[in-house]
Amino acid sequence: MQLVSTKDELRHHLDAVRMAGRSVGFVPTMGALHEGHLSLVGAATADCDVVVLSIFVNPLQFGADEDLESYPRPRQRDLELAETAGVDVVFTPSPQEMYPGSVFTAVHVAALTSTMEGAARPTHFDGVCTVVTKLFNLVGPCHAYFGEKDYQQLAVVGRMVADLDQPVTVVGCPIVREPDGLALSSRNVHLSGEQREAAGVLHRALRAGATMIAVGEHDGEAVAAHMAEIIGDEPLARLDYATVVDAATLEPLRALARDAEIRLLVAAAFGSTRLLDNVGVTVP
Ligand code: PAF
Repeated sequence: MQLVSTKDELRHHLDAVRMAGRSVGFVPTMGALHEGHLSLVGAATADCDVVVLSIFVNPLQFGADEDLESYPRPRQRDLELAETAGVDVVFTPSPQEMYPGSVFTAVHVAALTSTMEGAARPTHFDGVCTVVTKLFNLVGPCHAYFGEKDYQQLAVVGRMVADLDQPVTVVGCPIVREPDGLALSSRNVHLSGEQREAAGVLHRALRAGATMIAVGEHDGEAVAAHMAEIIGDEPLARLDYATVVDAATLEPLRALARDAEIRLLVAAAFGSTRLLDNVGVTVP
């Protein structure tokens, strides 16, 4: 596995890979790797000749009162996991390498970003889209792998790539879960034992919502209210949102039409740790 920390080195290395006729798979991460990230690496190694994983905790996507400083950074362990998973190149730029001066240019996706995470974290998606665009510019034409756990991010990045004709094929990969259903997240390490147990409520609420639809509920607001009630009943959870949206447009839905592809999404804080989860449903 090759370690690369400068933009020039990454660009030249991957240009040479493509010149040799080999395809590139890209897994962008902020590190603190877990099985969810490794499943993205697995998908990339199955599809592509050379797999690049970036580790960069992007300051642009954190609000002033968010967890940039405390975001976990177990660098040595990340490198060991990446190597074992079959990553060929790890890109670990410093903040100075990525942002050598003030940033006057941002990528703003006007659709899909005003609700849910965009409402809770107003500067978040501009930060994500700006860094992902920079990373795509450095990596070059590739398949890029994103987890469905950050479903809104996946939709926003897909839209950005389409609107800007970025030479990237975005691949969404399924959520990896703990045995009790908790979605894997780098932030789970911050949960206390009690909070960890309580966090299982997110997946329970989503399952209950999906079951309501499976047995014939066609009112999206009723499903959202039921999920909110389940999370609200957990004393350690502070609900942010529970919603039922169109899987493509992310518009909240009241009437759930037969065969519609919809997504149930929830977010809640456990102490200072904010967690997200979602499931996809086809309305029967
Ligand atoms: O999903 C993440 O870890 C980040 O938002 C990403 C895509 C690596 C951009 O910093």
